[in-house]
Amino acid sequence: MQQGGWMGGTGLGMRREPEVTVEVHVRPGDAQRALRSEVLAGLCGEGGLRELSPKWLYDERGSQLFDEITRLPEYYPTRREREILLAHAGDIARASGADTLIELGSGSSEKTRLLLDALRSTGRLERFVPFDVSEAFLRQAARAVAGEYPGLRVHAVVGDFERHLERLPKGGRRLVAFLGGTIGNLKPAERARFYGQLASGMEPGEGLLLGTDLLKCRKRLFAAYNDSAGVTAAFNRNVLHVLNRELGADFAPEAFEHLAPFDEENGWVEMRLISQRAQTVKLPALERYVNFAEGEVLRTEVSCKFRPEQVEAELAAAGLYLAERWTDAAGDFALSLALKR
Ligand code: AVJ
Repeated sequence: MQQGGWMGGTGLGMRREPEVTVEVHVRPGDAQRALRSEVLAGLCGEGGLRELSPKWLYDERGSQLFDEITRLPEYYPTRREREILLAHAGDIARASGADTLIELGSGSSEKTRLLLDALRSTGRLERFVPFDVSEAFLRQAARAVAGEYPGLRVHAVVGDFERHLERLPKGGRRLVAFLGGTIGNLKPAERARFYGQLASGMEPGEGLLLGTDLLKCRKRLFAAYNDSAGVTAAFNRNVLHVLNRELGADFAPEAFEHLAPFDEENGWVEMRLISQRAQTVKLPALERYVNFAEGEVLRTEVSCKFRPEQVEAELAAAGLYLAERWTDAAGDFALSLALKR
Protein backbone atom coordinates (compact mmCIF):
# COMPACT_ATOMS: atom_id res chain seq x y z
CA MET A 1 0.00 0.00 0.00
CA GLN A 2 2.91 2.33 0.63
CA GLN A 3 4.33 4.18 -2.31
CA GLY A 4 6.70 7.01 -2.81
CA GLY A 5 8.62 7.29 0.38
CA TRP A 6 11.22 9.86 0.93
CA MET A 7 13.89 10.08 -1.64
CA GLY A 8 16.37 12.41 -0.06
CA GLY A 9 20.02 11.94 0.48
CA THR A 10 21.66 12.99 3.70
CA GLY A 11 25.21 13.16 2.42
CA LEU A 12 27.09 16.42 2.41
CA GLY A 13 26.15 18.69 -0.42
CA MET A 14 23.06 16.74 -1.33
CA ARG A 15 19.83 18.58 -1.44
CA ARG A 16 17.27 16.93 0.78
CA GLU A 17 14.05 16.26 -1.11
CA PRO A 18 10.81 17.04 0.66
CA GLU A 19 9.72 14.14 2.81
CA VAL A 20 6.47 12.86 1.31
CA THR A 21 4.75 9.51 1.75
CA VAL A 22 1.55 8.60 -0.05
CA GLU A 23 -0.60 5.77 1.23
CA VAL A 24 -3.41 4.60 -1.03
CA HIS A 25 -6.56 2.87 0.20
CA VAL A 26 -8.76 3.24 -2.84
CA ARG A 27 -8.16 1.09 -5.87
CA PRO A 28 -8.82 2.15 -9.44
CA GLY A 29 -12.40 1.28 -10.26
CA ASP A 30 -13.65 1.64 -6.67
CA ALA A 31 -15.43 4.89 -7.47
CA GLN A 32 -16.97 3.45 -10.65
CA ARG A 33 -18.31 0.43 -8.78
CA ALA A 34 -19.65 2.57 -5.94
CA LEU A 35 -21.37 4.88 -8.41
CA ARG A 36 -23.04 1.97 -10.18
CA SER A 37 -24.41 0.42 -7.02
CA GLU A 38 -25.56 3.78 -5.73
CA VAL A 39 -27.33 4.63 -8.96
CA LEU A 40 -29.00 1.22 -8.96
CA ALA A 41 -30.26 1.73 -5.42
CA GLY A 42 -30.90 5.48 -5.45
CA LEU A 43 -32.16 6.06 -8.97
CA CYS A 44 -33.51 2.81 -10.31
CA GLY A 45 -35.27 1.64 -7.14
CA GLU A 46 -39.05 1.46 -7.07
CA GLY A 47 -40.90 4.30 -5.39
CA GLY A 48 -39.49 6.58 -2.75
CA LEU A 49 -37.32 9.60 -3.16
CA ARG A 50 -34.60 9.53 -5.79
CA GLU A 51 -31.28 10.46 -4.34
CA LEU A 52 -27.57 10.54 -5.14
CA SER A 53 -24.71 11.14 -2.73
CA PRO A 54 -23.12 14.60 -3.02
CA LYS A 55 -19.71 13.05 -3.58
CA TRP A 56 -20.53 12.58 -7.27
CA LEU A 57 -20.75 16.36 -7.68
CA TYR A 58 -16.96 16.71 -7.49
CA ASP A 59 -15.37 15.63 -10.74
CA GLU A 60 -12.87 18.08 -12.20
CA ARG A 61 -15.54 20.40 -13.55
CA GLY A 62 -17.61 20.11 -10.37
CA SER A 63 -14.62 20.98 -8.21
CA GLN A 64 -14.00 24.05 -10.37
CA LEU A 65 -17.63 25.09 -10.04
CA PHE A 66 -17.52 24.63 -6.27
CA ASP A 67 -14.43 26.81 -6.18
CA GLU A 68 -16.41 29.45 -8.06
CA ILE A 69 -19.27 29.09 -5.57
CA THR A 70 -16.93 29.93 -2.69
CA ARG A 71 -16.31 33.32 -4.30
CA LEU A 72 -19.98 34.21 -4.89
CA PRO A 73 -21.33 37.16 -2.90
CA GLU A 74 -24.24 35.06 -1.61
CA TYR A 75 -22.15 32.08 -0.49
CA TYR A 76 -20.82 33.12 2.93
CA PRO A 77 -19.50 29.89 4.59
CA THR A 78 -16.01 29.83 3.08
CA ARG A 79 -15.35 33.48 3.89
CA ARG A 80 -16.72 33.13 7.40
CA GLU A 81 -14.60 30.11 8.18
CA ARG A 82 -11.52 31.87 6.84
CA GLU A 83 -12.35 34.87 9.04
CA ILE A 84 -12.48 32.60 12.11
CA LEU A 85 -9.18 30.93 11.25
CA LEU A 86 -7.49 34.27 10.64
CA ALA A 87 -8.56 35.42 14.09
CA HIS A 88 -8.09 32.19 16.04
CA ALA A 89 -5.61 29.80 14.39
CA GLY A 90 -3.17 30.59 17.20
CA ASP A 91 -5.77 29.81 19.88
CA ILE A 92 -6.64 26.57 18.09
CA ALA A 93 -3.01 25.50 17.84
CA ARG A 94 -2.36 26.21 21.53
CA ALA A 95 -5.57 24.60 22.75
CA SER A 96 -4.93 21.47 20.70
CA GLY A 97 -1.27 21.08 21.70
CA ALA A 98 -0.91 19.08 18.49
CA ASP A 99 2.26 18.04 16.67
CA THR A 100 0.32 16.41 13.81
CA LEU A 101 -2.34 18.01 11.64
CA ILE A 102 -4.65 15.61 9.85
CA GLU A 103 -6.87 17.31 7.32
CA LEU A 104 -9.91 15.45 6.00
CA GLY A 105 -10.69 16.63 2.47
CA SER A 106 -8.98 19.56 0.79
CA GLY A 107 -5.33 19.72 1.90
CA SER A 108 -4.14 22.43 -0.44
CA SER A 109 -6.13 25.41 0.67
CA GLU A 110 -5.26 28.64 2.32
CA LYS A 111 -6.95 27.31 5.48
CA THR A 112 -4.43 24.48 5.69
CA ARG A 113 -1.61 27.02 5.67
CA LEU A 114 -3.23 29.10 8.39
CA LEU A 115 -3.38 26.04 10.65
CA LEU A 116 0.09 24.81 9.75
CA ASP A 117 1.59 28.25 10.38
CA ALA A 118 -0.10 28.47 13.77
CA LEU A 119 1.03 24.98 14.76
CA ARG A 120 4.56 25.75 13.62
CA SER A 121 4.54 28.83 15.84
CA THR A 122 3.94 26.66 18.90
CA GLY A 123 7.21 24.89 18.05
CA ARG A 124 5.53 21.46 18.09
CA LEU A 125 4.59 20.84 14.47
CA GLU A 126 6.10 17.64 13.06
CA ARG A 127 3.71 16.03 10.66
CA PHE A 128 0.93 16.84 8.19
CA VAL A 129 -1.52 14.18 7.03
CA PRO A 130 -3.75 15.33 4.17
CA PHE A 131 -6.54 12.83 3.55
CA ASP A 132 -8.54 12.95 0.34
CA VAL A 133 -10.30 10.65 -2.09
CA SER A 134 -8.52 12.03 -5.15
CA GLU A 135 -5.00 10.64 -5.48
CA ALA A 136 -3.82 13.05 -8.17
CA PHE A 137 -5.02 16.05 -6.22
CA LEU A 138 -3.54 14.75 -3.00
CA ARG A 139 -0.09 14.07 -4.45
CA GLN A 140 0.07 17.57 -5.82
CA ALA A 141 -1.13 19.13 -2.56
CA ALA A 142 1.27 17.03 -0.46
CA ARG A 143 4.25 18.03 -2.58
CA ALA A 144 3.35 21.69 -2.48
CA VAL A 145 3.02 21.72 1.31
CA ALA A 146 6.24 19.73 1.78
CA GLY A 147 8.07 22.27 -0.35
CA GLU A 148 6.73 25.18 1.68
CA TYR A 149 7.38 23.68 5.12
CA PRO A 150 10.92 22.35 5.26
CA GLY A 151 11.35 19.64 7.85
CA LEU A 152 7.65 18.81 7.94
CA ARG A 153 6.85 15.12 7.39
CA VAL A 154 3.97 14.87 4.96
CA HIS A 155 2.09 11.59 5.03
CA ALA A 156 -0.76 11.73 2.52
CA VAL A 157 -3.59 9.19 2.73
CA VAL A 158 -5.87 8.50 -0.22
CA GLY A 159 -9.19 7.35 1.19
CA ASP A 160 -12.88 7.94 1.72
CA PHE A 161 -13.78 9.49 5.08
CA GLU A 162 -16.80 7.22 5.36
CA ARG A 163 -14.69 4.06 4.94
CA HIS A 164 -11.05 4.58 5.83
CA LEU A 165 -10.95 6.59 9.04
CA GLU A 166 -9.39 3.69 10.91
CA ARG A 167 -6.45 3.89 8.49
CA LEU A 168 -5.35 7.31 9.68
CA PRO A 169 -1.75 7.09 10.91
CA LYS A 170 -1.36 7.01 14.69
CA GLY A 171 1.31 8.52 16.89
CA GLY A 172 2.18 11.91 18.26
CA ARG A 173 -0.57 14.22 19.37
CA ARG A 174 -3.01 14.60 16.53
CA LEU A 175 -5.50 17.28 15.55
CA VAL A 176 -8.03 16.20 12.92
CA ALA A 177 -9.45 19.13 10.95
CA PHE A 178 -12.73 18.64 9.10
CA LEU A 179 -13.48 22.04 7.66
CA GLY A 180 -15.76 23.75 5.19
CA GLY A 181 -19.01 22.52 6.64
CA THR A 182 -18.69 19.21 4.80
CA ILE A 183 -19.98 17.40 7.91
CA GLY A 184 -23.34 18.94 6.94
CA ASN A 185 -23.50 16.59 3.97
CA LEU A 186 -24.03 13.69 6.38
CA LYS A 187 -27.47 12.95 7.79
CA PRO A 188 -27.79 12.52 11.57
CA ALA A 189 -27.21 8.73 11.64
CA GLU A 190 -24.25 9.06 9.26
CA ARG A 191 -22.79 11.82 11.40
CA ALA A 192 -23.08 9.71 14.54
CA ARG A 193 -21.25 6.90 12.78
CA PHE A 194 -18.56 9.26 11.55
CA TYR A 195 -17.96 10.82 14.99
CA GLY A 196 -17.97 7.38 16.61
CA GLN A 197 -15.43 5.94 14.18
CA LEU A 198 -13.20 8.96 14.44
CA ALA A 199 -13.36 9.06 18.25
CA SER A 200 -12.65 5.35 18.59
CA GLY A 201 -9.32 5.84 16.81
CA MET A 202 -8.30 8.82 18.94
CA GLU A 203 -6.17 8.89 22.10
CA PRO A 204 -7.26 10.97 25.10
CA GLY A 205 -6.37 14.60 24.53
CA GLU A 206 -6.33 14.34 20.75
CA GLY A 207 -8.68 16.74 18.99
CA LEU A 208 -11.20 17.31 16.25
CA LEU A 209 -11.53 20.77 14.72
CA LEU A 210 -14.94 20.84 13.07
CA GLY A 211 -16.39 23.52 10.78
CA THR A 212 -20.17 23.79 10.81
CA ASP A 213 -22.54 26.17 9.11
CA LEU A 214 -25.07 27.60 11.56
CA LEU A 215 -28.83 28.04 11.34
CA LYS A 216 -29.85 31.46 10.13
CA CYS A 217 -32.77 33.13 8.38
CA ARG A 218 -34.04 31.13 5.44
CA LYS A 219 -33.70 34.04 3.09
CA ARG A 220 -29.92 34.03 3.37
CA LEU A 221 -29.76 30.25 3.24
CA PHE A 222 -31.85 30.29 0.09
CA ALA A 223 -29.69 32.94 -1.56
CA ALA A 224 -26.49 31.02 -0.73
CA TYR A 225 -27.71 27.89 -2.52
CA ASN A 226 -29.70 29.52 -5.32
CA ASP A 227 -27.29 32.21 -6.46
CA SER A 228 -28.29 34.76 -9.04
CA ALA A 229 -25.39 33.94 -11.39
CA GLY A 230 -26.56 30.33 -11.64
CA VAL A 231 -23.24 28.81 -10.59
CA THR A 232 -24.85 26.50 -8.02
CA ALA A 233 -27.37 25.41 -10.65
CA ALA A 234 -24.51 24.49 -13.00
CA PHE A 235 -22.73 22.70 -10.13
CA ASN A 236 -25.86 20.68 -9.40
CA ARG A 237 -26.60 19.80 -13.05
CA ASN A 238 -22.97 18.81 -13.53
CA VAL A 239 -23.74 15.55 -11.72
CA LEU A 240 -25.86 14.56 -14.73
CA HIS A 241 -22.82 15.07 -16.98
CA VAL A 242 -20.93 12.80 -14.59
CA LEU A 243 -23.58 10.10 -15.01
CA ASN A 244 -23.52 10.55 -18.78
CA ARG A 245 -19.77 10.15 -18.89
CA GLU A 246 -19.34 7.38 -16.32
CA LEU A 247 -22.42 5.28 -17.11
CA GLY A 248 -23.04 6.19 -20.73
CA ALA A 249 -26.35 7.74 -19.65
CA ASP A 250 -28.25 10.21 -21.83
CA PHE A 251 -29.47 12.79 -19.34
CA ALA A 252 -30.36 16.15 -20.89
CA PRO A 253 -29.14 18.41 -18.07
CA GLU A 254 -31.27 21.36 -19.31
CA ALA A 255 -34.35 19.20 -18.82
CA PHE A 256 -33.77 19.41 -15.05
CA GLU A 257 -34.18 22.53 -13.00
CA HIS A 258 -32.04 23.37 -9.97
CA LEU A 259 -33.77 24.20 -6.70
CA ALA A 260 -32.27 24.23 -3.21
CA PRO A 261 -34.92 24.94 -0.57
CA PHE A 262 -34.39 24.96 3.19
CA ASP A 263 -36.15 22.07 4.90
CA GLU A 264 -37.21 23.47 8.27
CA GLU A 265 -38.05 20.09 9.76
CA ASN A 266 -34.69 18.48 9.03
CA GLY A 267 -32.69 21.66 9.42
CA TRP A 268 -30.96 21.26 6.09
CA VAL A 269 -30.76 22.88 2.68
CA GLU A 270 -31.28 20.25 0.02
CA MET A 271 -30.21 20.49 -3.58
CA ARG A 272 -32.75 19.11 -6.01
CA LEU A 273 -32.86 18.48 -9.72
CA ILE A 274 -36.45 18.67 -10.88
CA SER A 275 -37.51 16.96 -14.06
CA GLN A 276 -39.13 19.58 -16.30
CA ARG A 277 -41.12 17.01 -18.26
CA ALA A 278 -41.91 13.33 -18.31
CA GLN A 279 -38.77 11.69 -19.67
CA THR A 280 -36.96 8.40 -19.92
CA VAL A 281 -33.23 8.20 -19.38
CA LYS A 282 -31.04 5.38 -20.61
CA LEU A 283 -28.38 3.87 -18.32
CA PRO A 284 -26.48 1.48 -20.62
CA ALA A 285 -23.82 0.56 -18.03
CA LEU A 286 -26.61 -0.78 -15.81
CA GLU A 287 -28.84 -2.07 -18.62
CA ARG A 288 -31.67 0.01 -17.22
CA TYR A 289 -34.04 2.81 -18.13
CA VAL A 290 -35.24 5.34 -15.57
CA ASN A 291 -38.50 7.22 -15.94
CA PHE A 292 -38.98 10.67 -14.50
CA ALA A 293 -42.46 12.15 -14.17
CA GLU A 294 -42.86 15.87 -14.75
CA GLY A 295 -41.90 17.60 -11.50
CA GLU A 296 -40.18 14.53 -10.09
CA VAL A 297 -37.30 15.31 -7.74
CA LEU A 298 -33.80 13.90 -7.65
CA ARG A 299 -32.02 14.93 -4.45
CA THR A 300 -28.28 15.45 -4.92
CA GLU A 301 -27.17 16.90 -1.57
CA VAL A 302 -28.28 17.80 1.92
CA SER A 303 -26.36 20.52 3.74
CA CYS A 304 -27.25 20.60 7.43
CA LYS A 305 -27.34 23.84 9.38
CA PHE A 306 -26.70 23.59 13.11
CA ARG A 307 -27.32 25.18 16.45
CA PRO A 308 -23.98 25.32 18.28
CA GLU A 309 -25.36 23.30 21.23
CA GLN A 310 -26.48 20.61 18.83
CA VAL A 311 -22.96 20.21 17.50
CA GLU A 312 -21.68 20.04 21.06
CA ALA A 313 -24.22 17.38 22.04
CA GLU A 314 -23.52 15.19 19.01
CA LEU A 315 -19.77 15.32 19.67
CA ALA A 316 -20.26 14.59 23.36
CA ALA A 317 -22.33 11.52 22.47
CA ALA A 318 -19.20 10.17 20.73
CA GLY A 319 -16.92 10.95 23.68
CA LEU A 320 -15.57 14.17 22.20
CA TYR A 321 -16.02 17.01 24.64
CA LEU A 322 -16.08 20.61 23.50
CA ALA A 323 -12.94 22.47 24.53
CA GLU A 324 -13.67 25.72 22.71
CA ARG A 325 -15.87 27.14 20.03
CA TRP A 326 -15.24 30.15 17.83
CA THR A 327 -17.69 31.95 15.56
CA ASP A 328 -17.31 34.79 13.07
CA ALA A 329 -18.52 38.28 13.98
CA ALA A 330 -21.87 37.75 12.26
CA GLY A 331 -22.44 34.39 13.96
CA ASP A 332 -22.84 32.60 10.63
CA PHE A 333 -20.34 29.77 11.03
CA ALA A 334 -18.63 27.92 13.88
CA LEU A 335 -15.36 26.14 14.46
CA SER A 336 -15.54 23.69 17.35
CA LEU A 337 -12.51 22.10 18.98
CA ALA A 338 -13.47 18.86 20.70
CA LEU A 339 -11.03 16.64 22.59
CA LYS A 340 -11.20 12.91 23.17
CA ARG A 341 -11.90 12.02 26.78
C1 AVJ B 1 -18.72 21.81 0.46
C2 AVJ B 1 -20.50 20.54 1.32
C3 AVJ B 1 -19.78 22.47 2.48
O1 AVJ B 1 -22.89 22.26 1.63
O2 AVJ B 1 -22.37 24.35 1.42
C4 AVJ B 1 -22.17 24.52 -2.00
C5 AVJ B 1 -21.32 22.31 -0.98
N1 AVJ B 1 -23.41 22.80 -2.23
N2 AVJ B 1 -23.27 24.88 -2.66
C6 AVJ B 1 -22.17 23.16 1.20
C7 AVJ B 1 -22.26 23.20 -1.71
C8 AVJ B 1 -24.02 23.84 -2.81
C9 AVJ B 1 -20.93 22.80 0.38
N3 AVJ B 1 -20.02 21.91 1.13
